[in-house]
Amino acid sequence: MAMNGDLIALVNKLQDTFNTIGGDAVDLPQIVVVGSQSSGKSSVLETIVGRDFLPRGSGIVTRRPLILQLIHTPAKGEALGMTGGYQMQDLPTPSPPYTEYAEFLHLNRRFTDFDEIRREIEAETFRVAGQNKGVSKLPINLKIYGPGVLSLTLVDLPGLTKVPVGDQPTDIERQIKNLILDYISKPNAVILAVSPANQDIANSDSLKLARSVDPRGLRTIGVLTKLDLMDAGTNALDILTGRTYPLKLGFIGVVNRSQQDINAGLPMEEALRKEEEFFRNHPAYRNLAHRCGTKYLAKSLNHVLMNHIRDKLPDMKARLNTLMGQTQQELNSFGDATFLGEQHRGSLVLKLMTEFARDFVASIDGTSMELST
Ligand code: GDP
Ligand code: NA
Ligand code: MG
Repeated sequence: MAMNGDLIALVNKLQDTFNTIGGDAVDLPQIVVVGSQSSGKSSVLETIVGRDFLPRGSGIVTRRPLILQLIHTPAKGEALGMTGGYQMQDLPTPSPPYTEYAEFLHLNRRFTDFDEIRREIEAETFRVAGQNKGVSKLPINLKIYGPGVLSLTLVDLPGLTKVPVGDQPTDIERQIKNLILDYISKPNAVILAVSPANQDIANSDSLKLARSVDPRGLRTIGVLTKLDLMDAGTNALDILTGRTYPLKLGFIGVVNRSQQDINAGLPMEEALRKEEEFFRNHPAYRNLAHRCGTKYLAKSLNHVLMNHIRDKLPDMKARLNTLMGQTQQELNSFGDATFLGEQHRGSLVLKLMTEFARDFVASIDGTSMELST
């Protein structure tokens, strides 16, 4: 299990390295949230992260992609590589004093106040996408570090809409669709296709779009939100058990905070408790309760991500080997660069990269042996 956590940490590190040198050499798995506007995408992401920090609400709130990289750091006293956080049995339950912090790519400072993070996301959204409901495809990049977070990369996206409002262009539906397709058509994207349970699943935009890029449903997880808002006397049992719409990875039902809960400032822990209670006590879902809810979704996601990375290892290794070869050649062409000033700095970066890549390949060799047993 710890090996799995190490594997994800390694992939995160790799991503950082390529970001630094401005490359995108390895296509890493990302979890992408897709759904119609106000279906509960941002709410789902937030509870997976376990912290309140995303702008949510009725109408169009998410107007730029948010690429969210969660990075697990060992807690004080935790031995590196043996952390409980890697076990991923539960959602992160950070306890004060909080040791988590966040960094935006567009700002050179650390955030520890999650309300402030939400305000910065809002301000950045307004700065680029304007004041009046406009949508921009320019992503906001945010990293959250902490002992209580799972190591995952998640992408929050604007919701699918039909009718332009505010400053939106007449072809807003097509624009948002294309924006979403940019993210989910990558073969290693894991799609969280969100559908609200109080609307007919046959009309689900997210499932339709997911099916267009993942026709066999191999990398799509169905997420059914708003189970608490279904008409009395109806339930979603047929969907949750896969009888209505077949998805290899299945459907998971969740209950997020309602707008009233948000307005009243209902804490996340309390909302999660309420959610558990909902499934445990509901006559239709009682027997299914262990496969429902946000905690189960977080666990399933990790499982999917692990398998995904495992599948990609041989390819990543091959690409890294190529990159290392190229880097070595470039290094050689510098000759002895010790006294070359500016060029020296360049060669240092290459040298560090080569060393890193070598370590990475070595560790893959180690892990892949473990994984295959
Ligand atoms: P997004 O537009 O898809 O990102 O959706 P948001 O997460 O912003 O949520 C839209 C609105 O739906 C907010 O007012 C949420 O409080 C509400 N909402 C989301 N999920 C649920 C749910 O499971 N139950 C209830 N009652 N309300 C929800
Ligand atoms: Na919304
Ligand atoms: Mg949203």
